[in-house]
Amino acid sequence: MTPERRPAIVGNWKLWGTRAQAADYCDRLLTLLPDERRRPAAVGICAPFTALDLCVERLSGSGVGVYAQNMHQEEMGAFTGEVSAAMLTEIGVDGAVLGHSERRQYFGETDRALQEKVPAALAAGLRPILCVGETEDEREAGETERKLRHQVQEGLEKVEGERLAEVTIAYEPIWAIGTGKVATPEIAQEAIAFVRALVGDRSREAAEAIRVLYGGSVKPDNAEEILAQPDVDGALVGGASLDPEAFARIVASASP
Ligand code: PGA
Repeated sequence: MTPERRPAIVGNWKLWGTRAQAADYCDRLLTLLPDERRRPAAVGICAPFTALDLCVERLSGSGVGVYAQNMHQEEMGAFTGEVSAAMLTEIGVDGAVLGHSERRQYFGETDRALQEKVPAALAAGLRPILCVGETEDEREAGETERKLRHQVQEGLEKVEGERLAEVTIAYEPIWAIGTGKVATPEIAQEAIAFVRALVGDRSREAAEAIRVLYGGSVKPDNAEEILAQPDVDGALVGGASLDPEAFARIVASASP
């Protein structure tokens, strides 16, 4: 990893976190993390919409970023149930996870929508984390690269070259999410190097600077060897992030 790419460890709570739980979580996490200057990685949490403002307040000044788990690309309109970028920035949210495989799978999120969401997030001053990854069938059929190429190219298509490096990409093989079946460090490295090369087709500088995370069953006992891979710039952690102690241990295994 080049020295400019500081790793990032981001916890995705998914459907978890009443305001009471979120408050308790944030307070516990802050007692477990070293001071911002001594942290081996940037840290963030992705909370449900209803707890975002509370997390922003609780974590203010701590250097822990607060992310939404989705965002709509339009500023306003007849899109019942959706939340815009401006609604997130107004309450101090730092970024948004976009295109998580669960949103693609259960809620019909499309690459076409992501093409609008990623630049809309950047335009509003939010840091987007674009998720990509193949299913088990696609991997077995030798389709991994085709799938990743499609998702990365579509998701970044409307992002201007100068802003590409502000996007974070999370490579999350669907067969590894919530299954306990973590990718081997070699698989993670190979896929993430491929994702980086795809960004390099747009801009070599951006490819050097962009962060690409691994996600899928990251736990305290497997994080270190994955995070040690040269192209892996951190992790998006689901299940294990719900326990602040486990999450802080994963942060501690990042190599600065
Ligand atoms: P997991 O989820 O760590 O529970 O596998 C990862 C993710 O979905 O971001």
